[in-house]
Amino acid sequence: MAKAKRLYGCTECGATFPKWSGQCPECGAWNTMVETVIDNSPMSSSSKSWTGQSAQIKTLAEVSTEETPRFTTHSSELDRVLGGGLVDGSIVLIGGDPGIGKSTILLQTLCNIANYHSALYVTGEESQQQVAMRARRLSLPEDKLKVMTETCIESIIHTAKQEKPKVMVIDSIQTIFTEQLQSAPGGVAQVRESAALLTRYAKQNDTAIFLVGHVTKEGALAGPRVLEHMVDTVLYFEGESDGRLRLLRAVKNRFGAVNELGVFAMTDKGLKEISNPSAIFLSRTQEAVPGSVVMATWEGSRPMLVEVQALVDTSHLGNPRRVTLGLDQNRLAMLLAVLHRHGGVPTYDQDVFINVVGGVKVLETAADLALLATVISSLRNRPLSHDLLVFGEVGLSGEIRPVPSGQERLKEAAKHGFKRAIIPKANAPKTAPEGLTVVAVTRLDQALEALFE
Ligand code: TYD
Ligand code: MG
Repeated sequence: MAKAKRLYGCTECGATFPKWSGQCPECGAWNTMVETVIDNSPMSSSSKSWTGQSAQIKTLAEVSTEETPRFTTHSSELDRVLGGGLVDGSIVLIGGDPGIGKSTILLQTLCNIANYHSALYVTGEESQQQVAMRARRLSLPEDKLKVMTETCIESIIHTAKQEKPKVMVIDSIQTIFTEQLQSAPGGVAQVRESAALLTRYAKQNDTAIFLVGHVTKEGALAGPRVLEHMVDTVLYFEGESDGRLRLLRAVKNRFGAVNELGVFAMTDKGLKEISNPSAIFLSRTQEAVPGSVVMATWEGSRPMLVEVQALVDTSHLGNPRRVTLGLDQNRLAMLLAVLHRHGGVPTYDQDVFINVVGGVKVLETAADLALLATVISSLRNRPLSHDLLVFGEVGLSGEIRPVPSGQERLKEAAKHGFKRAIIPKANAPKTAPEGLTVVAVTRLDQALEALFE
């Protein structure tokens, strides 16, 4: 067999060189050279004429669009995030901080799937004993799932070809290496090459594969973003690792909607699904306190009630602080400017801290009005009513703009006993849900007036 040739390629410009250097001689970028493999086997050489079969071409109308075959993971929250179940031959990347529960959820899922389909759990981080001990502690069905400790991708694929699992877990992709490269596991080249081999295996054998990926301090998937391009689905595990709640969010999904959110709680018996998340995020103190309001956010395909908190305090800095947890910081600065200009409330001498309770990230503009409502409440040290719900987008000219799925948000609020809702006029329903008084507003000053009524 012809030997694979070793080369170093620049990740910026794609040029390849026989030797590594700190700066790419071609484009001048620093630290971009990574080891790559050029396959020298006769088949891949472009100078030889192609002898394989030519690919089939169809018009779009001829392509059958039957539902992609899916099977359930026996966890309704995970199924929801995946877009209705796991697709045969798909690659799912699960990213998240260390200790957030990636191994736990995959072990639980695979043990359950193993009752119906063949499943293989490949771990490069823990020993077989550790995995078995965890399964036993969590009282999972142990007799079907096969576990393998291996980090060499060639060996993993060789075993998989014999075992023919329907579902496979690789925990984690950063520990896996290919013999074709000399660099250490976890590096960009190793991760990319291993993932490419696994992708090819998955597509050829219709095996669904979960890849576990670690997250760097900066929050990116360690190693390369390239992984995100190669896989079908990217899920992120969020939440504070010291808290109980864990949120699983789809950020890319070739087989379903993104921004679907699965909610779990970490207990001493593993991860438990939470099918009614609003109730959890709303576990508030009985008496109303300043700087807190509830908003309805839309997560994928369902509404969720979350509490937004603000602390506004006199600043002793030249540049007062604007800190957000779970919301966009730039948006806060913008909204405070709108609040000054169109609401007449200055905050230039105040530090403003915003937090979304429970470690949820709210990515939509519907949080704007709730955010300003808590800021006002904290600034004036006046509590907002406990049964008040606020949502709506705030525009730069102080107008309150509608948000998608207003009806469903209101229904969710009514279900949880909210009495009053301040919302964009365009979202106001003809008949409000029972028990809920809807205050429809078009301008920021109207909304602010309605807050303390
Ligand atoms: P783990 O799945 O090992 O995290 P990851 O693979 O993402 O690094 O999760 C480990 C953490 O979860 C650990 O800190 C302990 C906690 N945990 C529980 O609280 N209860 C449990 O039943 C399990 C299995 C783990
Ligand atoms: Mg782990």
